[in-house]
Amino acid sequence: MNVIPLQQHGFNTSRLVLGCMSFGGGWNNDPITDADMLKAEKGLDAALSIGINMLDHANIYTRGKAEEVFGRIFKAKPELREQLIVQTKCGIRFQEGEVPGRYDFSKEHILSSVDASLKRLNTEYLDILLLHRPDPLMEPSEVAEAFGKLKAQGKVRAFGVSNMSVSQMRFLEHALSEKLIVNQLEMSLSHLHWLDQGVHVNQDAGTGVSFGEGIMEYCQMERVQLQAWGPLSQGRFTGRSVEQEPEHIQRTAALVKQLAEAKETTPEAIVLGWLMRHPAGIQPIIGSGNAERILACQDAEQQAKLMTREEWYALYVAARGIHLP
Ligand SMILES: NC(=O)c1ccc[n+]([C@@H]2O[C@H](COP(=O)([O-])OP(=O)(O)OC[C@H]3O[C@@H](n4cnc5c(N)ncnc54)[C@H](OP(=O)(O)O)[C@@H]3O)[C@@H](O)[C@H]2O)c1
Repeated sequence: MNVIPLQQHGFNTSRLVLGCMSFGGGWNNDPITDADMLKAEKGLDAALSIGINMLDHANIYTRGKAEEVFGRIFKAKPELREQLIVQTKCGIRFQEGEVPGRYDFSKEHILSSVDASLKRLNTEYLDILLLHRPDPLMEPSEVAEAFGKLKAQGKVRAFGVSNMSVSQMRFLEHALSEKLIVNQLEMSLSHLHWLDQGVHVNQDAGTGVSFGEGIMEYCQMERVQLQAWGPLSQGRFTGRSVEQEPEHIQRTAALVKQLAEAKETTPEAIVLGWLMRHPAGIQPIIGSGNAERILACQDAEQQAKLMTREEWYALYVAARGIHLP
């Protein structure tokens, strides 16, 4: 696929997105340090140098500090904001005293969360806002009111969801005046439900698969951008020690290494290229905060183009740890 759905919707985005969950320090209320700023500056520089022009945030990442460090960078270099597509999320709330952590798609939460994100990010607008995780108490008409207001005020350009099924998307879209353009889900070589769902139709072996039927097909037909969170499998196949992991993970890591050596590229490019080889035009949201590891992702798009069906299936079957039905 040459043009991915987000590009069809007018966003001139790179295929890779920099996930910002690991920036800003710890998930606590400690102040942002110079080291936190330096890490974000280096991470962003590395991303920009390999052509990444999109950021994935959430209001909750490091309790707001991930957005804040990038807001400080935008303040120091205002020209950067226009060069970047900034996506953030709302809808998850932390535990407050006796009130447990929960989801909140109320109009009030959506509006106040966006205002807080805009302030932290030091920007007038968000390119894309995602609802982070499905809220069982969601009332589509209420979400529609919030989205309509944010759009009319120029605070958000487009909307999407994360971790949602097709029926949840359609339920919500029924009330919205415009289409949802993103669904962000966990998809990787170590988290294979997104593929297993399709190959196990009609099979007992599919009972443990949990992706939500039809998501891949629906998103492709409706031009919804599929974004993969966790695409580097937290380093399982790209250099992290796998001694304690199951045998099939160790074998897959060895295969990734072997392919990377044969193709004179990095294991990161193989793992991401494998995801991007899928015809849906998936955008991997890379979660590394390490500049070296971000740079190691540079060749991913090229590796996707070069990957044969045989190589793609060799990786899929190795990572499944069991032959296809
Ligand atoms: N929508 C959702 O519900 C949701 C959920 C989770 C995440 N996300 C988004 O997706 C992004 C990526 O998710 P993710 O961070 O789970 O996935 P990831 O990209 O698979 O993994 C990144 C993590 O793995 C570590 N890592 C990578 N390669 C390594 C290696 N060779 N050795 C040791 N550690 C290694 C990184 O550490 P270093 O920083 O040291 O490289 C980082 O902590 C997040 O930043 C966020 O934007 C969305």
